[in-house]
Amino acid sequence: LTLCLHGCMDQNPLYHALQTEQARRSGAGLPPVLSLIDSNFHANGFIPPRQPFDLAFSDYLTTRTYAPDSKGLREAREAVYRFFCNGGPVSPGIGADLSRNCGLNPDHILLTASSSAAYSLLFGCFAQAGDNVLLPLPAYPLFEDLCSYADLEPRFYPLDPKRGWQPDTDVLEVLCDEHTRFVVLISPNNPTGSVMNEAAIINIAEICRQNHTAIISDEVFSEFLYTSHELPRAMALCPDVPVYTLNGISKLFASPDLKLGWIAITGPDAEERTSILEMREDTYLNTNSFSQFLLPRLFASLAMQEFVRLMRDRCALNRDVFARVFKLDKNNSSLPAAGIHLVLPLVRSRFPDDEKAAIHLLQKTGLYVHPGYLYGLDDHPSFVLSILKEVTAFASGIETLHSFLRSP
Ligand SMILES: Cc1ncc(COP(=O)(O)O)c(C=O)c1O
Repeated sequence: LTLCLHGCMDQNPLYHALQTEQARRSGAGLPPVLSLIDSNFHANGFIPPRQPFDLAFSDYLTTRTYAPDSKGLREAREAVYRFFCNGGPVSPGIGADLSRNCGLNPDHILLTASSSAAYSLLFGCFAQAGDNVLLPLPAYPLFEDLCSYADLEPRFYPLDPKRGWQPDTDVLEVLCDEHTRFVVLISPNNPTGSVMNEAAIINIAEICRQNHTAIISDEVFSEFLYTSHELPRAMALCPDVPVYTLNGISKLFASPDLKLGWIAITGPDAEERTSILEMREDTYLNTNSFSQFLLPRLFASLAMQEFVRLMRDRCALNRDVFARVFKLDKNNSSLPAAGIHLVLPLVRSRFPDDEKAAIHLLQKTGLYVHPGYLYGLDDHPSFVLSILKEVTAFASGIETLHSFLRSP
């Protein structure tokens, strides 16, 4: 999204308006633009406690020896395995019994440089030019590009706002054909904050079974759950379907700078599919050795667990602030159940064009939000916000936003 907005800044009216407004405010001695869409953990004050990093770095330097494993360091893969079995600081685990049932084990976990890199690895290994990938809509504007780099056709199945953004599996079934290599589930979803329910996952698994298609289950926001301690997981619900479960430390430990993600490979032929991925990984050995060494220590650190809970709690608090200001019941299905974003629908008769509305908001109030169209919400004029911000600033921004939307 950084490039999507910034790369083509000459053509992007919102980005242009942002530059102009920032300059105007600075020149006039006005308070700076307040971004309600900044999802950079560090910029929002979430820099992980340094102790586990310091200790790990010192240990790493003491024992430093380059001994790459193309799947990733065994201790790190075992730590990821325990994370899936026992759960993370916030997310539930699937339990050792279920992990055995779906064949999960440390040998079927592969470390990657990031979740984005994991997508490219999967596309490169198991799809050919002209194949297609089913993606949820709305979604973070990353997956279309990843498809295009692999010459794959992205096909979008809608998430239905009237049903808490659950997928329309009837449309998904129509889109799925013999050239569909993957159905991507993003749960928790960015930007809707929805968690896919068990029935939808089971339905999708059946469609995949019939079409010999695999599931990619993107769970990068697994630690940001607000309404339930359940995270229905494709790997546990559909042990007889090939599933690739993606996650990493980018969101989980607010450490996108340390470049570490993973793929858990479950379902039939997991061994063979893992070997194919491993061969490709062996060509590059892209995954940072220090980050792999660090990973078990991050999972074991009480300070890190506390930090993850703090991030989650702040987002939950901002979610409550939003509900209070917009007079929504805390159980309202338009509020995010998870994740670090929320979608605010606009009244179409007043704001038919969400990009123009975002520019108007920026110029009138100094608030910066994303228009929904950037996430594929073309038929639903809306704003997309991040709920990571410091609570007082977030509350003040939300009050201003509420007044703007209500003013004649
Ligand atoms: C749903 C989702 N999946 C994957 C990614 C990419 O994560 P990573 O930093 O691990 O590449 C993002 C980035 O924001 C995302 O929103």
